[in-house]
Amino acid sequence: MPLKLGHLGLIGLSLSAATLLGLQVRAEPTRVTFPRNIDDLVHYTTVTRGDVVEHMLTSREAIQAAQNGQPMPDGTQIILADYRNDKIYRYFVMEKGPGWGDDYDARRRTGDWQFQWYWPDGSINTQENTMRCQSCHQSRAEQNYMFTYRDLMNFNLSEVKP
Ligand code: HEC
Repeated sequence: MPLKLGHLGLIGLSLSAATLLGLQVRAEPTRVTFPRNIDDLVHYTTVTRGDVVEHMLTSREAIQAAQNGQPMPDGTQIILADYRNDKIYRYFVMEKGPGWGDDYDARRRTGDWQFQWYWPDGSINTQENTMRCQSCHQSRAEQNYMFTYRDLMNFNLSEVKP
């Protein structure tokens, strides 16, 4: 989807400048940060869709908490690492923080989880509105807003090194 601002010639403006001007932009920074310590995370399942291979990762602590019936800790990131031809193409990230749900009205809220789409260089996809991520993931409220929750619950942590 093209930026709506295109015809105003504002494309070169930074997001924050556009926000200061009170303009409606599609791209939006959220509180989510680029995947950290990705090599320390547990790869708990893989979803393959044609040429797209999605590795789902999160922390051992988050998996343990869920399997013990506890909420995942604040600071948890759940990452969908999307590979095409064995090369990383993009990262979809959900991250949880204290009171983060308050940033949104109830219709949009996904608990305290926020979403973001990152390119591998750490920039966000400026064409995306993360409201779309939330509205689809809202349907999974009973499963921690996740689609692969069952895989996470069934993952055997003893398969990976502590
Ligand atoms: C139309 C529905 C839909 C939208 C929109 C959507 N997702 Fe998802 N998401 C899914 C499905 C379904 C899966 C399970 C993997 C699969 O089937 O490819 C998933 C998986 C994930 C996962 C792995 C954890 C889990 O829920 O299983 C993350 C992280 C994620 N999505 C983030 C995002 C982000 C970030 C966005 C927006 C940029 C987004 N999603 C938009 C449907 C959606």
